[in-house]
Amino acid sequence: MVRWNWGQDSGPGAEVLGDITGLCVGDLGAGSARHPAHLAVHHQPARIIAVDASPAQHSMAQDLYGHLTPRLRLVHRDVSRHLYATAGAYDVLYSVFGAVDFTDPRALLPAAAAALRPGRRLVFSTLGHHLGGDPAHPDVQHTEIGAKTSDGEAATMRRWVLQEQVWTKLLDEAGFTQITTETLPAGDGPRAADTLLVTALRH
Ligand SMILES: C[S@@+](CC[C@H](N)C(=O)[O-])C[C@H]1O[C@@H](n2cnc3c(N)ncnc32)[C@H](O)[C@@H]1O
Repeated sequence: MVRWNWGQDSGPGAEVLGDITGLCVGDLGAGSARHPAHLAVHHQPARIIAVDASPAQHSMAQDLYGHLTPRLRLVHRDVSRHLYATAGAYDVLYSVFGAVDFTDPRALLPAAAAALRPGRRLVFSTLGHHLGGDPAHPDVQHTEIGAKTSDGEAATMRRWVLQEQVWTKLLDEAGFTQITTETLPAGDGPRAADTLLVTALRH
């Protein structure tokens, strides 16, 4: 099942991608590849490419869904590098709290535009505000968030939590049009958060 909200339990589903039958689809920061595996099995894309830079996530994806090759292809690479290497190859790109959240959008969004065919669609869900409640940034600024290395060591990583007009401006500058944003409300619980669901078409 594909859900876009932070709780992964309500709101719109795969229909936000449009009809992907026969299309080339990419998941940017696919993690264990649960979403692209579902789409590969239930939605008949020509192929779906799940990209993730994490060795641990890529390995888990291979264990869980390697048998879905060749309709599902698992790529262990940084998404921006992958997207520039596949210019004009994609019909649909999406990210569910994936690489779009954790990569400088001034680098990633132009790479996504380069990889999409003209008129084709980018969809992503991202945090509507910081976990804990602090508001999203009103400009292009990252937040250092706590993380753990694969050895369990404390670390930090960058997350871009931006207001919707900031995403809209970045998308426009990167070559996207017909940009829409929708806020999906948080559920219950201490780590609940609003989701910003964004869609745009490549010029
Ligand atoms: C919070 S997880 C979400 C995974 C998946 N979309 C899901 O909903 O289950 C974010 C994923 O994005 C990946 N990621 C972040 N930045 C990336 C980048 N620049 N290139 C490739 N993968 C990236 C991380 O390795 C991680 O697996």
